[in-house]
Amino acid sequence: MTLAAINVANASPQDQQLDNFTALCKALADKLRLTILRLLKNESFGVLELCRILDIKQSALSHHLKVLANVTLVSTRREGNSIFYRRGLLAESDPFLDYKHALFDTIDQQPLTTNLVAGIQSIQNERAQLSLDFFNRNVDKFKEQQGLITNFSDFASTLDDLVKGLQLNQSARVMEVGPGEGELLRQLASQFDHIIALDNSPEMLDMARHTIAKAEMNNVSFVLGDTGVAKHQQLRCDLLIFNMVLHHISSPAETFADCAHILNPNGLLLVVDLCRHDQDWVRQGCGDLWLGFESEDLTHWAEKAELATGQSLYLGLRNGFQIQMRLFSKPNK
Ligand SMILES: C[S@@+](CC[C@H](N)C(=O)[O-])C[C@H]1O[C@@H](n2cnc3c(N)ncnc32)[C@H](O)[C@@H]1O
Repeated sequence: MTLAAINVANASPQDQQLDNFTALCKALADKLRLTILRLLKNESFGVLELCRILDIKQSALSHHLKVLANVTLVSTRREGNSIFYRRGLLAESDPFLDYKHALFDTIDQQPLTTNLVAGIQSIQNERAQLSLDFFNRNVDKFKEQQGLITNFSDFASTLDDLVKGLQLNQSARVMEVGPGEGELLRQLASQFDHIIALDNSPEMLDMARHTIAKAEMNNVSFVLGDTGVAKHQQLRCDLLIFNMVLHHISSPAETFADCAHILNPNGLLLVVDLCRHDQDWVRQGCGDLWLGFESEDLTHWAEKAELATGQSLYLGLRNGFQIQMRLFSKPNK
């Protein structure tokens, strides 16, 4: 056994704790690493994306990411062939929890330079354009593509029970983001007086419009755009639903923040989406940007947007995918 190994083996728990804290402080004593943590405030980025934003070489960046990962300040997630980095979620059992909270709060107050903001925006625009192009291109094959993962009928009755269980007034204002072909939209339009359908693909929005016209319903307003547009137009609602949409959205964290603006006090956000999976083919086949989500991811983005986490429901599908139905609410401040 080497001397160093003997020292480690003999280290008291207090010593070990101090060593860990020293490693944490060393990891933080670097401007670039602090900038990385700032960039990951709400977002996750792939290594190449971070290289572009920070304008540095991958080899240099990888070293810094490793240092941050060693002290659990960042964690990784595999999205197909790419590794995505995000801030490590803080566990209640973390001995340095208060310190890390204070650290993140301080870092988050540091403004980003114009170049970094432009870099992030450019990555997000590219991701959003990829998703939009997919839906505009595949409108004819939409059902077929979507059916590769799941059909609405697989979970329609569960979702219907969940929505009815919310016991919202018929006059509640409801918005569905990304209604696609409009199956859920039709269901909602039969339950509520007025619905807003928001979709950023003109082709998909036309498809939903057609479904509603065919059902001879006239209580749906169709809005072209994303939640940023809805926020800008000052649209408000009591129930906001994303059904299999979030994994197509470039910045889920920003979307949660938009939702907090759009919801009325006591309003509810219902997210139906895939749990984390490793089926990379859905990127090409179904235009997915994200391979589902960890439930903690959704909780974390909701917390950041000051939305409270409510009930959740998980459904396994025959093909191995799992669906999560998650409710969040806006406090009545
Ligand atoms: C997979 S489809 C889901 C359709 C439908 N909710 C369903 O489950 O059948 C995704 C839909 O979300 C729309 N979409 C994708 N990104 C969006 C965004 N950022 N804002 C609004 N709609 C979006 C797409 O155009 C498409 O209509």
